[in-house]
Amino acid sequence: MTFQQVYGYEPAVQYSAPGRVNLIGEHTDYNDGYVLPFAIDRRTTASIAPREDRVLRVASAFDTDNPPVSLSLDELAPDRMDGWSAYVLGIAWALREQAGADLSDKTGFDVFIESDVPVGAGLSSSAAIECGVALAFNDLWELGLDRKSLARVGQYSENHAVGAPTGIMDQSASLLGEQDAVVFLDCRTLDTAVVDLALEANGLEVLVVDTRVEHAHATGGYKARRDSCERGAAAMGVEALRDLSVDDLHRAQELLDDETFRRVRHVVTEDQRVLDTVRTLREHGPRAIGSLLVASHESMRDDFEISVPELDLAVTTAMEHGAVGARMTGGGFGGAAIALVDQEARGAIADAVTAAFAAAGYREPNVFTVHAAQGARRD
Ligand code: GLA
Repeated sequence: MTFQQVYGYEPAVQYSAPGRVNLIGEHTDYNDGYVLPFAIDRRTTASIAPREDRVLRVASAFDTDNPPVSLSLDELAPDRMDGWSAYVLGIAWALREQAGADLSDKTGFDVFIESDVPVGAGLSSSAAIECGVALAFNDLWELGLDRKSLARVGQYSENHAVGAPTGIMDQSASLLGEQDAVVFLDCRTLDTAVVDLALEANGLEVLVVDTRVEHAHATGGYKARRDSCERGAAAMGVEALRDLSVDDLHRAQELLDDETFRRVRHVVTEDQRVLDTVRTLREHGPRAIGSLLVASHESMRDDFEISVPELDLAVTTAMEHGAVGARMTGGGFGGAAIALVDQEARGAIADAVTAAFAAAGYREPNVFTVHAAQGARRD
């Protein structure tokens, strides 16, 4: 399916935006903390043509059974959007609601979405749609918003139009990513620094193991974890867990119930691991970050309790077969793990993980390499 086949004419412009892998810093974003994601070389493309009326029409290559969804700019509201089209329509709504854009004199668009970001793998296929569309609408409507503002728009749409209570990490990675680098983001201030990954120069690669175990953010444990973190911060008398350091954990243990304490300990130590990873990358390069990645995984498995047996098996098998480091990535409860591996070891590690899954009776994982790529752009 193409834009031409759906709408009967050629698109005027094409924008694309990547999915992301988070190197480290999990469930820290909505705690005002630190994250270290990178945009990957898997992208979503939005082909677009302006219309003369105020209608937005949306179609996609993964929903070819249905006609395009169409909605007037005068009818934008979350309860008028459902299914995947909310990822597109919600952006127009959020540009108005969250960023205060005046859409009263704007015309609509025909939009066609294609993607090679695997859906449901925890690689932010949804943020890729949101960010490509946000950049496109911002340009074509001449709204003049910068990329950090567009990340906020994407997050607002995800929270209120799509209905998933997620943080700012995915949209920031998709909009701010750069080739062969990670985005060090302070989720409170949105201050960013681009940190060299230098994988190629060090003979390394990042392997993704998509377990193909479904993760369900909105209905699953994501919200429960978020609630625990808010309770923990309130009990500790701080605005967000970001305001605690490792030295505060002793007091936290005395004050909090065991479960809330372990949630808090994950977030506080994970923030510290992000800072340590940035420093280590800068001073010693990517080969030195392995133990931080593994410690992050163990903290998510034991304290935050968001891993699943398939993710644990991917991590332990990769480590047993010589990976430099490995951890689950993204929201958890399924999705993907990453392993930092020597280029020459990639095939053997991928085979070992696939064999271990077969031996355990798990569904065959999807194993592939990703590279840190440029963020959203006009193609
Ligand atoms: C999901 C959310 C992000 C972040 C991660 C966990 O990917 O969309 O905002 O909270 O989970 O780090």
